[in-house]
Amino acid sequence: MRAFIAGVVVTLLVIAGGVYAVSQFGLYPIGADNPPGAIERAIAGRAMDRYADKHKPAGDNPIQPAPDSLIAGAKEYEEHCAFCHGGAKAKISPMQDKLNPPAPQLINRIPHDDDAWLFWVTKHGVRMTGMPAWDGVLSDDEMWKVIAFIKHSDNLPPDVQSAWQRMAATPGEIEEHTPEQHEHEHEHAPAKVPEKR
Ligand code: HEC
Repeated sequence: MRAFIAGVVVTLLVIAGGVYAVSQFGLYPIGADNPPGAIERAIAGRAMDRYADKHKPAGDNPIQPAPDSLIAGAKEYEEHCAFCHGGAKAKISPMQDKLNPPAPQLINRIPHDDDAWLFWVTKHGVRMTGMPAWDGVLSDDEMWKVIAFIKHSDNLPPDVQSAWQRMAATPGEIEEHTPEQHEHEHEHAPAKVPEKR
């Protein structure tokens, strides 16, 4: 029995030493241009999937996909998400595979996951990937609108579609976000993007 326990302890020490050596001697590739291995991808992917499933809010998207809300969602999407996830200008973002794991191209292939799951991932982000947590930058209401926009992006009412295309054509005019910027804008200039109603 003693020999068995000693064997287990030695094995654990060898594994711990191996992990230490790999990190200490610069053997673990950390560049974003190193794709994760199959095992890491499978385990981390499943962990993320299940965790978001377990923690997502109950119920469906509280936002009705009315034109106003979809335009508001499109605006936030173009401003904050299109760079990595593809948008009106480039359906496939050039950044797609500059991130590892790569950024899913949400416009090109609309995710099947339910809105609550997409909302949770948007709000909290995914650790050790390029996906940021948007909590505190976007309000819950804005995030639900972004999700509604993504989900309807292949079947938008014509006026929403054209408003979205215009945003991509003039990216500088997308409304800024932080309260300070809002105040600033309103002080010095009239609202830049006319609300379509
Ligand atoms: C800097 C790049 C970057 C930005 C900006 C970004 N994301 Fe992501 N996003 C990622 C990456 C990378 C992943 C993949 C994470 C993974 O594999 O677990 C991801 C994953 C997601 C997913 C999960 C999709 C799926 O089917 O697995 C959603 C939803 C999402 N992002 C929404 C958004 C929204 C909404 C915004 C804007 C508010 C946004 N992202 C901004 C990089 C980004």
